[in-house]
Amino acid sequence: MQDIKWYKIADSINLLPWQANNMCLVEVKNKIYTIAKHNNKIFAFSHKCPHASGILANGWIDALANVVCPIHRYKFCMQNGRNTSGEGYFLKTYKVEIREEGVFIAIENKGFLSFF
Ligand code: FES
Repeated sequence: MQDIKWYKIADSINLLPWQANNMCLVEVKNKIYTIAKHNNKIFAFSHKCPHASGILANGWIDALANVVCPIHRYKFCMQNGRNTSGEGYFLKTYKVEIREEGVFIAIENKGFLSFF
């Protein structure tokens, strides 16, 4: 069973460092994640594109809630990570929740092995 832990990333959604493209970066336990908002929903996914490590927060969000990588324009569903432009890659996504106490992201605890 996966050991998932929730981490607070902001006191409220408005306090995240949003860019004009509705994405921003947060750091949790020395790792960077992309947070995105679209149509009143919030998403979290990897910092880098699974194709060739493009910085996804430098791309854009299309009308169907895909993040579009700025390097080769592959598209990924922000909800489930599916590579909707069909190249066969998979974007790691994370659960994110807006609660009264703030905004939280769920990250797997890799435990002992994460130190190596
Ligand atoms: S690096 Fe993202 S599509 Fe190639």
